[in-house]
Amino acid sequence: MKIMTVLGTRPEITKLSALMPMLDEHFEHKVIHTGQHYDHNMDQVFFDELNLRKPDYMLNVGSGSHAKQTAKMMVQIEDIMFEEKPDWLIVFADPNTPLAGALVASKMHVPLIHMEAGCRSFNKKMPEEINRIICDHCADILLAPDLIAYNNLMREGLDQSKIHVVGSTAIEATLRNVKLARERVDLINELGLSKGNFVLFTLHRAENTDDSNVLRGIVDAVNQISLRVNVVFPIHPRTRNALAREGLKLDSGVRVIEPVGNLKLLSLIDNAKFVMSDSGGIQEEAGAIDTPCLILRNETEWTYLTDCGKNLLVGNDGDKIVSSVNFLLDNPQEIEKMSQVKLNLKTDVCKDIVRIIKNESKK
Ligand code: UD1
Repeated sequence: MKIMTVLGTRPEITKLSALMPMLDEHFEHKVIHTGQHYDHNMDQVFFDELNLRKPDYMLNVGSGSHAKQTAKMMVQIEDIMFEEKPDWLIVFADPNTPLAGALVASKMHVPLIHMEAGCRSFNKKMPEEINRIICDHCADILLAPDLIAYNNLMREGLDQSKIHVVGSTAIEATLRNVKLARERVDLINELGLSKGNFVLFTLHRAENTDDSNVLRGIVDAVNQISLRVNVVFPIHPRTRNALAREGLKLDSGVRVIEPVGNLKLLSLIDNAKFVMSDSGGIQEEAGAIDTPCLILRNETEWTYLTDCGKNLLVGNDGDKIVSSVNFLLDNPQEIEKMSQVKLNLKTDVCKDIVRIIKNESKK
């Protein structure tokens, strides 16, 4: 049986890092990399440090408007699928890359597996929300991370027999990769950091970077916070461009660094006092390794982490961000309380996924 995986952005690569070798082992497995992310530190670094094999196809699609980027991917994915004739196509989560894969597969009647199915922010202005709804509705196997996602799919009328609650591959990948990160104390030492003496900050969501008032408010907040605690900020290229466009400056207490690979990121999360981020992946990575995460968005797909008090949904209003951080810095026992919250996580997620694909293929 031939399986094809389409990926293209850094979260897809890291969250698939535990599954990819297992797909290679159990199936004839071809990988298409769309090249949605292409800078070395947004792409190749993950393959190198996570010991992942090279994709079979590199499309070099690059950046562009949503329509242009998605269309370029679709044309090339279709050509490859005509040649390769896979039995299943796997796409992951919600960037434009899985959207392109899902649309091509469903038009070619190639059965589609959607991983991280059923996550919803209920904010249709997020491009990712549209992407994930379409992927779910095209899919023949929906691999949901938890019961919340399962219930979202049921509410949208999807066929129950297609949905499997498997747990989170992001958590499984984090637990695999953090072991490698912990062997490398140099990763934070080389930045002159030590355990608990800094806060990690990341920002890249369109709703935060593309609205100048929101971005200005967040930058002001982070500058204020940096008067009380060191802030380390690996900057996404989208955000670097947005700051330049708006003429916004970060104060010297904010240590801006280039985007980092997964091991350095995990090391930063692991050693930070807490994390402030609008990334979906980082919310789960922080949760898995018990570092509190303040979410700089107005909604989150990962409510299992906020409902139990592991993460805190702060929003993207500058004043709110400052007051939430001040509260934590004034009450360190609250940081400890968040990090102590225990999660009831599914294990053997990737093994389960392989078993499900094998079973479904027999039908
Ligand atoms: C995409 C995903 C988002 C995911 C994020 C992870 C969509 C709609 N969004 O957002 O769900 O959380 O990836 O990072 O697919 N750029 C570079 N070099 C790169 C990649 C991007 O300079 O290697 C710059 C370009 O200016 C580009 C901008 O970043 O226009 C945005 O990149 P894009 O891939 O369109 O979306 P992300 O913001 O990365």
